[in-house]
Amino acid sequence: MPSFDEILAGKGVFLDKSVLSPHYVPEILLYREDEIRKIMLAIAPVLQGMKAKNLFIYGLTGTGKTCSVKQVLSKLKEKADPRVFTVYMNCRVYDTRYKVLQKVITEFKPHFAKTGHSFSILYEEMLDWIENSKSDLKGRHLVVILDEIDMVSDLDSLVYTLVRANDDLTGGSVSLIGISNKVNFKQKLDPRSKSALCEEEIVFQPYNAVQLKGILGQRAQSAFEKGIIEENAINLASAIAAGENGDARYAFLLLLRAGELVESRPDGSRRISDKDVEEARKLADEDKAFEVISTLPQHQQLLLYSLAGLSEDVQYKRLVEDGGDKLYFSGEVYERYASLAKRLGHVPRTSRWYREYLNELEMLGLVNMVSSGKGVRGHTTLIKLSYTAAKVKKAVEKTLMFE
Ligand SMILES: Nc1ncnc2c1ncn2[C@@H]1O[C@H](COP(=O)(O)OP(=O)(O)O)[C@@H](O)[C@H]1O
Ligand SMILES: [Mg+2]
Repeated sequence: MPSFDEILAGKGVFLDKSVLSPHYVPEILLYREDEIRKIMLAIAPVLQGMKAKNLFIYGLTGTGKTCSVKQVLSKLKEKADPRVFTVYMNCRVYDTRYKVLQKVITEFKPHFAKTGHSFSILYEEMLDWIENSKSDLKGRHLVVILDEIDMVSDLDSLVYTLVRANDDLTGGSVSLIGISNKVNFKQKLDPRSKSALCEEEIVFQPYNAVQLKGILGQRAQSAFEKGIIEENAINLASAIAAGENGDARYAFLLLLRAGELVESRPDGSRRISDKDVEEARKLADEDKAFEVISTLPQHQQLLLYSLAGLSEDVQYKRLVEDGGDKLYFSGEVYERYASLAKRLGHVPRTSRWYREYLNELEMLGLVNMVSSGKGVRGHTTLIKLSYTAAKVKKAVEKTLMFE
């Protein structure tokens, strides 16, 4: 048994794991000077006592939108202008007009907003605070940053409210910066909100493999002990992430998992190679599948569980082996599913539903279907699980059966 000192000292793979976390905001953002400049241009008027431009920022996940905006916000804070006030929030959490307003007010009056006031009271409170009429320093300039703005359920009325506030104010201003990972979200907005929100617009393009390499290389220096990570590991992680829509977050996840693999190996070398990244990718894909499974309807989960059960059953002989892959007859899987459903007290879905479910599971990449071709019992469908049976069972058990 190793000592804790050995575990802590000898295993030094990471220098600082936290810099690989998706929440980490790096000091230097590469390749985003233009975007950052544009954000600053939109926001700069508040430093001259005027309203900022409303701004809509969009681009795929992991293209640096959130950290670019956060960087600009911290630059703005450095100016310490007493009239300028910014509130950043992620709309996964603040997902209604009411919650957004509540969050804004909580920033300057922590106890007020928590006590269940009506919307109009909150609204008046916000206007009063912005006007700031009792002070010499009249008219504050509030910038509300709504990250993942597409999560707000009553977005049109939220945008309308914040924009209209400027007409109701006798001094100061409200402006907003909306950020979305959904590239075609703008089309879904009501035309009036669209033109209000998109006064200025910035698109964040996906990173290419070369840019990702630069970003990863820079971060690897603070994440890992010197000399631990091989260049081919960084190259592969960059290439993989470039293929996944240029998602820097995914690239960091690959490095993190690869490092953890090396760290957990009892003896092996303390170097992270491309093979470890490849391995890490499998783990990351499984993590994703895990998430998908947990959101499936119950009967689809039971179906997957039955298929997983079959492939773990070593006695089970009625299967087709195809280059190491185990394929099961669709009818057999159905029988197994039906009996599992009954045992759990559910009425099994009909076989027509069952085929529908299989198609959906295939579309989600959780199973593969192959037509058996002639010979094997005429034409029948063969099914294969895309992930290891144990993982799939665990995912289902966690969400469905034994919670
Ligand atoms: N240009 C960049 N330079 C350095 N790190 C970056 C860059 N762009 C993104 N990152 C890193 O990638 C991760 C995801 O960035 P984020 O701003 O959250 O993306 P988005 O909001 O577009 O999904 C963060 O950990 C961030 O530190
Ligand atoms: Mg983001």
